[in-house]
Amino acid sequence: MRVNVFPTADELAAGAAGAIANAIKESPGARVSVGLAGGSTPRATYEHLRWEPVPWDGVDLWLSDERWVPHDHEDSNGLMAATALVDHVGARFVRPRWSEYLTAMDSAAFYEAELRRFIPGGRSDIVLLGMGADGHTASLFPDTRALDEHRRWFVHNEVPQLDTWRLTATPPMINRARTVLVLTAGESKADVLATALEGPDGSVPIQLLRHAVGEVVWMVDEAAASSLSSITVERV
Ligand code: 6PG
Repeated sequence: MRVNVFPTADELAAGAAGAIANAIKESPGARVSVGLAGGSTPRATYEHLRWEPVPWDGVDLWLSDERWVPHDHEDSNGLMAATALVDHVGARFVRPRWSEYLTAMDSAAFYEAELRRFIPGGRSDIVLLGMGADGHTASLFPDTRALDEHRRWFVHNEVPQLDTWRLTATPPMINRARTVLVLTAGESKADVLATALEGPDGSVPIQLLRHAVGEVVWMVDEAAASSLSSITVERV
């Protein structure tokens, strides 16, 4: 596990885009699978990433989590990824289905079946993640059922804190990835980042990454890193 600290959020976005492009180019298979993070932080990274020299025709993009909203809803992670990146590159993009006639449970099951078609053994080459102020990642929120899912790759998850349903990659799906990159920026994440990286096991959901089998690289800005006190970091 490595922690790369960038001076500003803008430099984090540019640096993360370069790291993702390199990870794609260094992936061993004929096709490269990349799980995209949602939320707001990754948008700037995706906007840089679209300019990186990547063999996009060999890349399969999927979503590490999605809100249970229509594809054109402003809260949709898929819409954010499409406008910031996918619409500008030649990668294949597989999104969970949404319909007023579908349940979140069925959509997650359909999506898992889709993932099985292009992610051999459920081992994605790259998974991108963010982290919420409560230490959640993907849509694995504190005290929610999906945190205890150890067999499925992708599930629906009831999130009472937000009074909503989410669709999310599971802990085993995330921890099997060859490379996990976590993008975190801003002073509002400083305390939870210190807990995630330096606190006791089981404090926040994103500590599930302590059981990752591949490489985990935290890419953060100075503001988010401002409460770190003991862990070794690499200033970029
Ligand atoms: C989502 C996410 C979620 C996100 C964190 C951080 O659907 O919201 O995927 O896990 O990464 O909530 O979000 P920000 O980057 O907006 O702080």
